[in-house]
Amino acid sequence: MSDTPTPSATKGWLTFAIIAVGVFILGLLSASVLERRQESIRATAVTPMPEWETDNAEWGKVYPRQFASYKEGEDSTTRTRHGGAFPRDYLEDMPQLVVLFAGYGFSKDYLQARGHNNARNDAWETGRLKHADGSHKEKAPATCWTCKSPDVPRLMHEMGVKEFYASRFVDIADEIKHPIGCLDCHDPDTMALRISRPALVEAYERQGKDITKVSHQEMRSLVCAQCHVEYYFKGDGKYLTLPWDGGTSVEDMESYYKERDFGDWTHAISGAHMVKMQHPDYEVYQRGIHAYRNVSCADCHMPYRTEGGIKYTDHHVQSPLLNISNSCAVCHRWSEDEIRGRVETIQDTVARGRLIAEEALCLAHFDIAACKQAGATEAELKLLFDQVIAAQLRWDYVAANNGMGFHAPQECQRILQDATNLAQDCRRACAQVLAKHGYTDDVAYPDYSSKERAQALIGLFAKGEGPSLLAGR
Ligand code: HEC
Ligand code: HEC
Ligand code: HEC
Ligand code: HEC
Repeated sequence: MSDTPTPSATKGWLTFAIIAVGVFILGLLSASVLERRQESIRATAVTPMPEWETDNAEWGKVYPRQFASYKEGEDSTTRTRHGGAFPRDYLEDMPQLVVLFAGYGFSKDYLQARGHNNARNDAWETGRLKHADGSHKEKAPATCWTCKSPDVPRLMHEMGVKEFYASRFVDIADEIKHPIGCLDCHDPDTMALRISRPALVEAYERQGKDITKVSHQEMRSLVCAQCHVEYYFKGDGKYLTLPWDGGTSVEDMESYYKERDFGDWTHAISGAHMVKMQHPDYEVYQRGIHAYRNVSCADCHMPYRTEGGIKYTDHHVQSPLLNISNSCAVCHRWSEDEIRGRVETIQDTVARGRLIAEEALCLAHFDIAACKQAGATEAELKLLFDQVIAAQLRWDYVAANNGMGFHAPQECQRILQDATNLAQDCRRACAQVLAKHGYTDDVAYPDYSSKERAQALIGLFAKGEGPSLLAGR
């Protein structure tokens, strides 16, 4: 071996040098392209809008691209395996939900969420806020409008926040003119992201935190957390409140409700005073890998879109599985099929966990009803109620949250396991109560295998005419 490089080694070094210089130049180029792209976003000329402009079309005249993409959200035909914007009838697909929500509006009408553009009309049309004859429930509070329209912050400003919540849903319906839109997330003067809903600001304050001090990246999730969170209507004034004082895990919120002895409705089969969880999307997301790695809701649901060299934020807020190349694929170098496959595998697993919890829970409600029929005492029932409430609240924290567990798969499975265990504990306790009252046969579970059968059945229980569950007696 000599120290003089061979001709082929020299050639190799030369090629390497050329490639290295090439890569360096390409890198410079792409960095400047990126910079220019970001500038094009920053350079979007800001035209201040009137302080209370709630008409999205007016904003659209100034920001046509964002408005055009926003309008695409009117499409209610999109489907994915577990999501999409079509009005999937959850009760038809999962009649066990009728049993779980017996005595509550969700057992009558429960459709999959559609795009923001439909929020105003969907709230007006839902059977949950109507009587059987189609007329609206007089008692429904205006609070039900809170997450449906940019007219809400305007009305809160005009009427006062407390006064807004304390009025009636039907009385202010004419004032709610536009579906969720620009004014909900943007400062009309600067276009900066802003929080327009007091409940989130107040929840931060009670935790000793100042929401005006959060980072820009956090704001890209917090604008969503104005609505995609667990909440309840506090007191007679129906004041919209997030139960976050002790934290946002399911156990934290359970303690919050327990301390206040709060319940949403009385279950028509078991008689337990239940808590309804309402889409805790932000809370569940916080427990997933993406929140941990600082990926925001907007990164996946409002990714950048490029048109004619102009890069802007896609305002068609929808399932990212309908837009994988602009969403997930920006960070994950897997093929679209692989990405979809990973999401569906996660979701199928969570869906299975849900189903197991749902079966245990349905049977638990019937077991408690059987105990009543067998003559269980108030004290005996109280213990059973506590168990079924704890179990169902956990299941609902997962079930009511959107995305079928994708936002935090392990957390969702953990909670579903606890829910199933608690429901089975309750059923075991029921068997003991039944035995104490002289009944050791199987409970005769009624048929709830379709939406119609389940609804007819819970109707009977609501009238106190439920079938005997003690067939062996
Ligand atoms: C890492 C990407 C990612 C992040 C971050 C993310 N999501 Fe999602 N989200 C998804 C995926 C994937 C689905 C499942 C879509 C499907 O099943 O079609 C989903 C589903 C949803 C759905 C239901 C959509 C449908 O069509 O069924 C809603 C609502 C939602 N997410 C809200 C949020 C909110 C609010 C946040 C932030 C608190 C958030 N997401 C954060 C990826 C994300
Ligand atoms: C659900 C919340 C939400 C709604 C509703 C919304 N936006 Fe946005 N908008 C965002 C987010 C998030 C960004 C990204 C901002 C950032 O990261 O600084 C954004 C960015 C923008 C920008 C800056 C340029 C760009 O494309 O990134 C404009 C302009 C804009 N939106 C206009 C509108 C208009 C017009 C409407 C009503 C038709 C609207 N937005 C409705 C959340 C929203
Ligand atoms: C002012 C309240 C509000 C805000 C703010 C809000 N949402 Fe929504 N969102 C809703 C409501 C209400 C619906 C259901 C509308 C319907 O079914 O008519 C919904 C539906 C959705 C859907 C289902 C659409 C589909 O095609 O499946 C997604 C996804 C979603 N929101 C994500 C987000 C994200 C991400 C943000 C923040 C960037 C956000 N939302 C901000 C209230 C809000
Ligand atoms: C802004 C970047 C970003 C976007 C957009 C994004 N992710 Fe991720 N994703 C990450 C990071 C970072 C991790 C964590 C990787 C790590 O820490 O090793 C991750 C992790 C994951 C994991 C592994 C989770 C686990 O625990 O095994 C899956 C699956 C995943 N992402 C799917 C998606 C899907 C589907 C989308 C689109 C809906 C998406 N991601 C969008 C950055 C992103």
